[in-house]
Amino acid sequence: MNKIFDQRRYLIPFRSQLLPHIFTDVLVIGGGVAGMRAALEASESGDVILLAKDSSDVSSTSWAQGGIAAAHDEDDSTEAHQEDTMSAGVGLCEPEVVKAVVEDAPARIDELLQWGMRFDRDSDGNITYGREGGHHKARILHTDGAATGAELTRCLSGRVRSRERIRLFDKCFALDLLTAETNGDRGQGRTEGRVLGAITYHARYGLQIIWAKATILAAGGAGRVYRETTNPPVCTGDGLALAYRAGAIVGDVEFMQFHPTTLYVAGAGRALISEAVRGEGAYLVDRRGKRFMEQYHEMMELAPRDVVSRAIIDVLAKTQESAVFLDVRHLGEEFSTKFPNLDKSIRYFDLDPTTDLIPVHPSAHYTIGGVWTDIEGRSSLPGLYACGESACNGLHGANRLASNSLLEGLVFGRRAGRVVMEMADATSGPIQIISDIRQDEHGELDLVDVRSSLRSTMWRNVGIERNAARLTDVVDMFDFWARYTLVNIFDDPMGWETQNLLIVGALITRAALWRQETRGVHCRTDFLESQTQFEGHALWHVGLDEPIFKPIDRSQEVAVSSA
Ligand code: SIN
Repeated sequence: MNKIFDQRRYLIPFRSQLLPHIFTDVLVIGGGVAGMRAALEASESGDVILLAKDSSDVSSTSWAQGGIAAAHDEDDSTEAHQEDTMSAGVGLCEPEVVKAVVEDAPARIDELLQWGMRFDRDSDGNITYGREGGHHKARILHTDGAATGAELTRCLSGRVRSRERIRLFDKCFALDLLTAETNGDRGQGRTEGRVLGAITYHARYGLQIIWAKATILAAGGAGRVYRETTNPPVCTGDGLALAYRAGAIVGDVEFMQFHPTTLYVAGAGRALISEAVRGEGAYLVDRRGKRFMEQYHEMMELAPRDVVSRAIIDVLAKTQESAVFLDVRHLGEEFSTKFPNLDKSIRYFDLDPTTDLIPVHPSAHYTIGGVWTDIEGRSSLPGLYACGESACNGLHGANRLASNSLLEGLVFGRRAGRVVMEMADATSGPIQIISDIRQDEHGELDLVDVRSSLRSTMWRNVGIERNAARLTDVVDMFDFWARYTLVNIFDDPMGWETQNLLIVGALITRAALWRQETRGVHCRTDFLESQTQFEGHALWHVGLDEPIFKPIDRSQEVAVSSA
């Protein structure tokens, strides 16, 4: 990576001694499912501060339509769930991690039931299980068809708010992790220091230092680095960027998952139309009403989502049209009964699902890469843990199986919240940390313009299809933008987010250029086949020009499948 990206350790100048201090045992950054679950667990044995960048009900979790995958039905098995997860991940899943997650899934569902979460049931009161792309079994638990995330948020945030040992800081932006080093401009050196908490900006109280014995990063994904995305505005990759600046290892960042079906209507903000709808029998058709998925995969509309997204792109290229369509007309009134919220949002745009085709298009949806962790959520930096979309532990491989992400948040939030207690006897601050970076004079920057150029560039060149020529152009373009954007010092989240987006965009582009193959969600039109020499994770940290390559441990896979 160009050295400009790796130079600055902190986004702003500060002296820790001069800022207000707050102390806690555990700091959790991120208020979605992973953050809340981690906070609940950690609060069993220590004091916790939980930061939400916006209010705690604005997150990818609260927007999530798709449900929670679990072999919870007695007709299902964890082995079958494991097989579907591994097969969607196209050779890059870590078998041991997949096994641990799918085996824990039924217990996590039972726990939610105990905590009062409402799931869809049939007229006899039995839980109903839906199907989504890549699953060979109906095993997804939903709430109100496609409003699972909102119900999960209600359930977890109620518990979080009632815990005395959890302090919830809404509208609090984490700028940077604190490590015991004193220089703001570090050149190429990598930080090995322990993480001691974070410097934060609270909308009401301004800059603060939160000292913590352990910090859990659960700050969500980076979908907003793309022009077309299903993600809420808060998903600007801050967690990934701040961990990278602190010297943590990040992995698999080239793998950004695109969801095949977002509503393609001006003004609809790329609202997701859940795969659960295809699970209930919706067809994908072209403008003439002809189904096309049989040409691409035997599972048709329920093929893994990388296959469906690429099929749509192919159809659009052939027909020179801008959208394909979801056809739910044959479901009749069942559609509004099963998916009341979706029915409402589609009708808002004057489309009647019982008579009209619904225009859809793929959009960036889920950040598979993230802060590299072990199976307990430990990052490469002592004192720093990561879980949920911010993290990467090899569960998803090269393509996440539908509805495994809320599950991941529950399983790894709990694990990270538990393992942080290994830091219980550690000391944290206050220590003197000085960031003495200076402003380079580059005049006023139109941040809205920088962001929209960056997001369009990513969408056009680092999207569903990629090739070396375009990726190289984007690397150069980002180096140029970085020269006057990253050297600036901003004093509000708009500026900091833009800097984070630039770092994350550059990381994704560089990793996508390095991986000269097509695998899962990463499609290189100049290398259309998967290559055995790329069967592993690409790990990056500050100062590297080439990644550390970590091959998948196949011995584990044999152990798992013969178990
Ligand atoms: C969906 O409802 O289609 C999204 C589910 C997911 O992303 O896992």
